Amino acid sequence: MSKFWNERYDTDKYVYGVEPNHFFKESILHLPAGNILLPAEGEGRNAVFAAQNGWTVEAFDQSEIAQKKAFDLAKKSGVRINYRIDRFETIDYPVEQFDVIALIYAHLPSPEKTIYFRKLLPLLKKGGYILFEGFSKDHRIFQEQNKSAGGPKEIDMLYSKGELSEIFQGTKIILLEQCLISLDEGVGHNGSASVIRMIAQNTSF
Ligand SMILES: C[S@@+](CC[C@H](N)C(=O)[O-])C[C@H]1O[C@@H](n2cnc3c(N)ncnc32)[C@H](O)[C@@H]1O
Repeated sequence: MSKFWNERYDTDKYVYGVEPNHFFKESILHLPAGNILLPAEGEGRNAVFAAQNGWTVEAFDQSEIAQKKAFDLAKKSGVRINYRIDRFETIDYPVEQFDVIALIYAHLPSPEKTIYFRKLLPLLKKGGYILFEGFSKDHRIFQEQNKSAGGPKEIDMLYSKGELSEIFQGTKIILLEQCLISLDEGVGHNGSASVIRMIAQNTSF
């Protein structure tokens, strides 16, 4: 899979653009800056925005090319980010470290999404938040109409509200919605999209 992503990112352009994801941007601007983890961060658009707004940023992704582009973007933007080459399968961060963990278009198959997303919960401080945006299972309709709609074609790698509430059971779900939006994120996410958005708070310890 890292070969697939390295090939996708091997272009001068930022595949998902250099601007932050809209939901991510609006969500973190309403929270006090603290420590944030960005799993599957890709080329760094969200990491750099968070750092510009006073957050201490940890990120990881399996793609070396994405990491290099993220460091280039951070340098150009005059901010510092920490960014490891790692996979959900092998991450090893200290527990209770993050105020926010943001999963933005982190698409995994089953049962991995349940196993690896649940593995993130102990890394949150008490009261910390999970932010999530990803394509819904209904996004297939837009993928059939538009080659630039983005997202995996395998239905199992797309999300439903029910699936998210099951994965994050035990947290306090503050927002969980499926919405139709229009994406303008580089060449990778473009046009009408059906997404799931979630904000969940860790109240478990
Ligand atoms: C659609 S991109 C999203 C990138 C970024 N979150 C954004 O919104 O711009 C999905 C990313 O997930 C990463 N990824 C997929 N499976 C992964 C895994 N098991 N461990 C780490 N990264 C993974 C890919 O390398 C890719 O960068």
